[in-house]
Amino acid sequence: MIIAIDGPAASGKSTVARALAQHLNLTFLDTGAMYRAVTLRVLAEGVAPEDEEACERIAGLIDLSFDGQGRVLVDGEPGEPQIRGAAVTAAVSVVAAHAGVRAAIVPKQQAIAAAGGAVAEGRDTTTVVFPEADHKFFLVASPLERGRRRAQERGEPQRAGEYAAEIERRDEQDRTREHSPLLKAADARLVDTDGCTAEQVCERLLAYVLGGA
Ligand code: CDP
Repeated sequence: MIIAIDGPAASGKSTVARALAQHLNLTFLDTGAMYRAVTLRVLAEGVAPEDEEACERIAGLIDLSFDGQGRVLVDGEPGEPQIRGAAVTAAVSVVAAHAGVRAAIVPKQQAIAAAGGAVAEGRDTTTVVFPEADHKFFLVASPLERGRRRAQERGEPQRAGEYAAEIERRDEQDRTREHSPLLKAADARLVDTDGCTAEQVCERLLAYVLGGA
């Protein structure tokens, strides 16, 4: 079974997808972590995120896999926590916008899911990577709520406003790009998560999946 979950930054996709994968005994596929891993390598090599050819070369050569907890391994080494840092977060939407980077990464995502099913989450999993997924969801929440969640996650609750601004800037880049923009697939179920805990959202999705709705 393949379940695909898309939505804007910090809409709770990772937490919910991870929990859902655990419940259903499926692989959790964090597609954003893969673009973050490519970006980490781009920055480490001193390549400009705007340099499409160099980014594409790096995306083609990098070996990406996941450990048992769904954490990305970059050439066998843990990508966490560096892939969540401010430098990678600021550059990732530029790197991920290159068609050549996506062409290198999408087949890796499809191969991981082909080996026994997955709960995948990202920006284009419902539209481009797994258009035939068994279940598709599009999670949304207000920018303020998402800023609050991200600040909480990072242990800096007082900086919710700054996180909200960073999130909105990245959403704008992801929505307006030419290749695989962030958008809701017509056949994806819209789930508004404002005011809901991750557990509540997970239960809702689980009910749709198990109820066959
Ligand atoms: O966790 P957060 O919502 O901050 O973002 P993420 O899922 O880690 O994704 C980081 C960035 O990777 C996004 O802002 C997109 O630019 C890019 N991305 C993408 O282009 N396609 C995906 N399927 C997933 C992420």
